[in-house]
Amino acid sequence: MTERILITGAAGRIGTALRPLLARPGRILRLLDINPVEPGQDDAEIVTASFNDPDAIDGACKGVDAVVHLGGKPGEGPWEELAEVNVEGTRQVLEAAVRQGVPRIVLASSIHAAGFWTRDDVGPDGSLPAGVAPRPDTLYGVSKAAVEALGSLYHSRFGIDVSCLRLGAYRSEPLSTVDLTVWISHGDGARLVEACLAVPAPAAFRVLWGISANARGWFSLAEGEAIGYRPEDDAERFAAGIAGLERFDWSDPVLHRVGGGFCAMPLG
Ligand SMILES: NC(=O)c1ccc[n+]([C@@H]2O[C@H](COP(=O)([O-])OP(=O)(O)OC[C@H]3O[C@@H](n4cnc5c(N)ncnc54)[C@H](O)[C@@H]3O)[C@@H](O)[C@H]2O)c1
Repeated sequence: MTERILITGAAGRIGTALRPLLARPGRILRLLDINPVEPGQDDAEIVTASFNDPDAIDGACKGVDAVVHLGGKPGEGPWEELAEVNVEGTRQVLEAAVRQGVPRIVLASSIHAAGFWTRDDVGPDGSLPAGVAPRPDTLYGVSKAAVEALGSLYHSRFGIDVSCLRLGAYRSEPLSTVDLTVWISHGDGARLVEACLAVPAPAAFRVLWGISANARGWFSLAEGEAIGYRPEDDAERFAAGIAGLERFDWSDPVLHRVGGGFCAMPLG
């Protein structure tokens, strides 16, 4: 049977990187964005619309097996915008999923929902559990904590399987000393989403770190591994090319906290 997956924010950086990695025989990708999505080589269904429009997102959720909700504002900004796009937009996507009987949703959260946890908070295995309570580092982080809370609500009320991914630095390669800890490769991002799409019943609510198997990472990947996430990449492979590596020092507050430099940036 053909599987149909709706990806929101598909014209964005992560959506563009994930699209070819999630495409496969027997699966149709429905790609929604407020900005035009490139037609591409696959037979994807393209929807140019806002997920804040209830009719549009309702139609986009029709007949889909899962939603991968990437759309949003990916950084700090005015609260009104974060509230409208990240919080209200996610509520609209979840409402449409309920109306259309979509059983599964993957939500793009962020490490910045938990940015004020520190290396002093790690467990006996030296890693920070994936489900630690939100400790946002910015208004952006608050909006992502709200995304997770909405996911929890819609799981508890309506039985949707909800995976919240606290994504780190999602790029083709790490660019900074901080990235050596929180990088997630394109391939591992796709492997994590695939694991979430394949979790067997019963439906659950889970929060996972979206991070590669970085040698300098201090984030528990056990919760992801429990659902089949098998990261293959390690930022350390790129370490020699990272500027300032000789000054890498764990006592640097930027490396000490999950949220790095976000913990001190101006709000709004
Ligand atoms: N890139 C990262 O390293 C990173 C890290 C942590 C979390 N995230 C999260 O992952 C998601 C994707 O990030 P990205 O880097 O691809 O961001 P991006 O800005 O490149 O892409 C987001 C996309 O969402 C679309 N969008 C915004 N509002 C919309 C609306 N109302 N309706 C339809 N589409 C809308 C935008 O047009 C854009 O194409 C975001 O939710 C972001 O917060 C990203």
